[in-house]
Amino acid sequence: MQAYLVGGAVRDELLGLEVKDRDWVVVGATPKQMLAQGFTQVGSDFPVFLHPKTREEYALARTERKQGHGYHGFSVYSAPDVTLEEDLLRRDLTINAMARSEQGELTDPFGGRADLEARELRHVSEAFKEDPLRIIRTARFAARFQPLGFTVCAETMALMRTMVAAGEVEHLVPERVWQEIQRALHEQSPVTFFQVMRDCGALAVLIPELSSEDNFSAALETLQCVHSAEGSTAERFAALLCALDERDCTSRAKALKAPNDCQQLARLAAAFLPEIGKLDLAQPDAGHLLELLENADLWRRPERFSSLLSVLGCALGAGSQKRLEPLESAADSAQGVDPKTLMEKGFSGKELGEAIRSERLARIAQAVSSPTS
Ligand code: CTP
Repeated sequence: MQAYLVGGAVRDELLGLEVKDRDWVVVGATPKQMLAQGFTQVGSDFPVFLHPKTREEYALARTERKQGHGYHGFSVYSAPDVTLEEDLLRRDLTINAMARSEQGELTDPFGGRADLEARELRHVSEAFKEDPLRIIRTARFAARFQPLGFTVCAETMALMRTMVAAGEVEHLVPERVWQEIQRALHEQSPVTFFQVMRDCGALAVLIPELSSEDNFSAALETLQCVHSAEGSTAERFAALLCALDERDCTSRAKALKAPNDCQQLARLAAAFLPEIGKLDLAQPDAGHLLELLENADLWRRPERFSSLLSVLGCALGAGSQKRLEPLESAADSAQGVDPKTLMEKGFSGKELGEAIRSERLARIAQAVSSPTS
């Protein structure tokens, strides 16, 4: 039997990047032989083993054939007679379909190295079509390698468009799509991910609200800004959806099965953006500002509130930062109210709640009527 380093590790090593995970393919072995050598079996769908010492993944060479729609429904054939080339043929992109033997020799039957040099993301074969998740993966690799100059080649883009037109993206389960979106939001150029998704038509299926030119460019500008500020996943996700109206934003975030913190921040940002636009900057209404802070649950969720301010700051753009000032100074002044002091004054129960609220209101009114700057 012979083991080969495959996939991302070979690609990243040739690109001179740090290699994180090392995956191996084993040719000419049976599960029994692997177990006899001390490997432990993981995964039930196909034979994958963990190395007894390194704990790296060793998969027996396999071929896959699609049976149904979507991500599931593959029939896997794994046996000692499956060759390395056959295993590489079932893979998504040529740059991911190279192998290196333990002696250091490169196997590259599909021109992965040439595509690395030409900075092209190219599908290995028509088998690309068998897994619609590959459309999203390709967009994600475009996002990751954008700074190196990689683009999706014309033939692969055409194939991706055909797959989308055939309804393949609709068969993907939201959980897998979310996993890819979440990773894409943290790649080197997240906006590139959404540009590729739009070019191939997948975005119109997954986030149709971003089909309009206005929403799309607003989303990308805001996302780029949050990315430059090294924002969290929730901030990046909210940046993407905050230009939508609150209802559309809420239902899309839910349909994508984003985690709760992402859904909540996106909803808040979409709800706040029009409110910020309507504020009378010369004479902000203290009562309205207090309501906004209450809606944002500032006192119980101060970190989320500061995330909200970051996203809103990006959505407003450099020329409109002044619009956030009333909300920021209202938050600063209202946060200064200390319930303990009011309790010491004898307030309790419902009266305490009312006293806190009127103290906050008074402080906000004072802060916005006499701005410090
Ligand atoms: N692969 C594939 N189709 C998929 C998923 C994976 O062809 N839908 C193949 C690719 O050859 C890929 C390898 O399996 O290189 C390992 O997949 P994964 O670990 O997801 O990706 P990497 O290429 O290793 O990239 P990353 O750096 O993101 O881990």
